[in-house]
Amino acid sequence: MQTIYYDLRDTKGQQKEIEDKISAAAKILREGGLVALPTETVYGLGANGLDPEAVKRIFEVKGRPQDNPLILHVTGAQWLPRYCAEIPPIAYVLARKFWPGPLTMILKRQPLVPDATTAGLDTVGVRCPNHPVTLAIIREAGVPIAAPSANTSGRPSCTTAQDVMEDVGDAIEGVVDGGPCVVGVESTVLDLTCDPPRLLRPGGLPVEDMERLIGHIDVDKSIHGAKVDRPGAPGMKYRHYAPKAPVTVITGAPEASAREIERWLGPTSGVICFDEYAGRFAGHEVHPLGPCGDKQIQAQRLFDALRTFDGTGVTEIFAQCPDNHGLGLAINNRLKKAAGFHILEADSQRIILGLTGGTGAGKTSALDAIRSLGGLVVNCDEVYHQILSENEEFQDAINEKFPGVFNAQRQLNRQKLGKEVFAKKDRLDQLNAIVFRYLVPELEAKMQAAGDGLYAIDAINLLESGLDRLCDRTIAITAPTELRVRRIMARDGITEQYARLRISAQKADEYYRGKCDCELNNASDSPAEFQKDAKLFFEKLVDAIREEKRHGAAVNLGK
Ligand code: TXA
Ligand code: MG
Repeated sequence: MQTIYYDLRDTKGQQKEIEDKISAAAKILREGGLVALPTETVYGLGANGLDPEAVKRIFEVKGRPQDNPLILHVTGAQWLPRYCAEIPPIAYVLARKFWPGPLTMILKRQPLVPDATTAGLDTVGVRCPNHPVTLAIIREAGVPIAAPSANTSGRPSCTTAQDVMEDVGDAIEGVVDGGPCVVGVESTVLDLTCDPPRLLRPGGLPVEDMERLIGHIDVDKSIHGAKVDRPGAPGMKYRHYAPKAPVTVITGAPEASAREIERWLGPTSGVICFDEYAGRFAGHEVHPLGPCGDKQIQAQRLFDALRTFDGTGVTEIFAQCPDNHGLGLAINNRLKKAAGFHILEADSQRIILGLTGGTGAGKTSALDAIRSLGGLVVNCDEVYHQILSENEEFQDAINEKFPGVFNAQRQLNRQKLGKEVFAKKDRLDQLNAIVFRYLVPELEAKMQAAGDGLYAIDAINLLESGLDRLCDRTIAITAPTELRVRRIMARDGITEQYARLRISAQKADEYYRGKCDCELNNASDSPAEFQKDAKLFFEKLVDAIREEKRHGAAVNLGK
């Protein structure tokens, strides 16, 4: 089958030629074919909405789940009574103000509208798109055009004719190129069969604009990712807009979210960020979303940003996200859906400090100082032992690499495991890799669930495990070697030789100094003195972080 490409980006040219193309596209539609059409929101995959056979092909070509209804595209409110029943007066009020435009109204359907279009529902979605070419085609076809977004199911929607060609080009009869979509996100879907009306999908028309006209609108919980059995719009329950690499959305003030992304960024991470922050992620695959303050441009670029990662080597994507006002709600919703609602909050009032350093440097005293400031110490060793005794997947992962260390009752033989990894660096690395894989998400979930306040993570392998990425600051606790030798001799009752051996088996202070955000050096002979210093140090640090969170700006603390 050959797809005909109609270039109608410029409608000021040869009038006859343009009319011919419009007639040809309308004819294909009337005869039951599929034509992709430009709209102001995204490209649609159109068919005669009254022809069940044509509509069935839309589902086939898109790979769309059968229970997800299509919307009918019409040329104006005068078409409403033909396809809709029990139309409330506010439908006309809304149409007068916002049509043609990015608003889809859900109304009771007339029996004329086939089940294939409405997925068997007794309601139908109707919208009048704001694109001169498509309006002309619908007018000429003389039938309502059922058109979902032209992407294959699950992919980000298409905002250019090239996107359409890429997704469904060889499976349909025609593609009409009307240039890039000016809105960039799909229409707002509003259910008018209930009172007050209900927002089923945020989109190109901000909910605030409608509320100014018709008063309060309820918001379907699925929009914010709540797991509801039956979201108002069946389409909202599907994973959607997703690039191949997993996406994490970072909410919060732009400066705070940029910092959060910097914290998580790995060598093969990609970033979607506001233009102002693109420079911060140099060397990475970056898709600028538009200026911080311009949601219209952000909406226009959103799907293109999500799409173009697929051709790259990016293995994970971090995305900054505007606030929820105006068009921001739709941008938020699409990004979060693309992320499967995997979201990190950048600017809560929770402060997490990560402490690390060699034995005898004074980590215990430093943690005491944090406790004396009201902080809570998260003991990673405890969490490790907890997952060791409770998480069967974790146990299985260890058992696979270290067969026989668990008995039939799933109890760990610590000695056996210890012997396996003691003095064998590659075996220890293997064990650590498994531990880190399970420990980090566990602690991440714990910290996300924790309330506001001060927390300290105490972990030997803070930097190696990736736990440092949960922290607002990492702190290297360091001390002169001679002092450390004396301290651990006294503390653990061991010989000088053994104390030196233990210190030399660990990483040097330079390592921690180089990798952590700041350093707390413990050169004092008296533990009480060090605790006092440490308390002052943490007090200042916490104040600076609070200040930074308040203003959403980085305070330069130096190393
Ligand atoms: O901007 C748009 O609306 C684009 C362009 C092409 O017009 N179209 C579009 O269609 O986004 P689609 O099929 O990708 O999304 C329509 C959404 C789906 O979430 C669907 O479940 C919902 O609207 N929907 C359609 N009919 C419905 C109905 N009768 N009741 C509830 N939700 C409905
Ligand atoms: Mg869609």
